[in-house]
Amino acid sequence: MLPGMIVTIDGPAGSGKSTAARELATRLGFLFLDTGAMYRAVTWAAGRQGLDWNDEAAIAKLAQSLDIQLSGKRVLVDGIDATEAIRASEITTHTRYVAGNLAVRHLLVALQRQFAAGNNCVTEGRDQASIVFPAAECKIFLTASPEQRARRRHQELVARGERIEYETILKQQQERDRRDQAREFGALVQTADSIEVCTDSMSPGEVVDRLETLVCSLRPRAEEGN
Ligand code: DC
Repeated sequence: MLPGMIVTIDGPAGSGKSTAARELATRLGFLFLDTGAMYRAVTWAAGRQGLDWNDEAAIAKLAQSLDIQLSGKRVLVDGIDATEAIRASEITTHTRYVAGNLAVRHLLVALQRQFAAGNNCVTEGRDQASIVFPAAECKIFLTASPEQRARRRHQELVARGERIEYETILKQQQERDRRDQAREFGALVQTADSIEVCTDSMSPGEVVDRLETLVCSLRPRAEEGN
């Protein structure tokens, strides 16, 4: 297998992207890039420094100064393990200030391309097929119904010890979907050359099986192009 195959997995929050993308990368022996974790890491650092969420310049300056390392399942920010902290719902709520910051997006997009350069990589986010890797060999758009997505997120947070109602999550998710799609830069879009996979009636294992089959069916074509 020649190096440099990129598999992008985009989709709305709670579609099961992270779990599926990570497992797919493991099965294929590819690198895994969780781009949402990068936006979360900047949000976490901005919160820790008590920055004004509306101060775009300060947030951009902070982002430029940060050392964000995605190391296996761990997320290190300036050497501090923020893996669990970046998943808190407080961070989820505030990521919009970071995700909507153009200077931060430019920076993170450059880091994402650097991470994948010359490697086989499964990358997951919102803008991976449209902006970051428009020439990716395999583009997947993962979806699920809003109710199913909210149920999964609810279970995830409850398992982590957070006390939050399902209805609250559903409402927050509707708001996030709206923002993800309406964002001026790096909005969630399904590109015309993406393959849509709806995970509603699939178990996590079945989702990965389906993705693996898709990638493997495209691999020979990707290798011919190299
Ligand atoms: O996928 P996630 O929930 O971990 O993403 C966290 C936030 O970052 C969410 O508000 C969407 C945003 N995001 C983005 O704007 N672009 C990406 N490539 C990935 C995530």
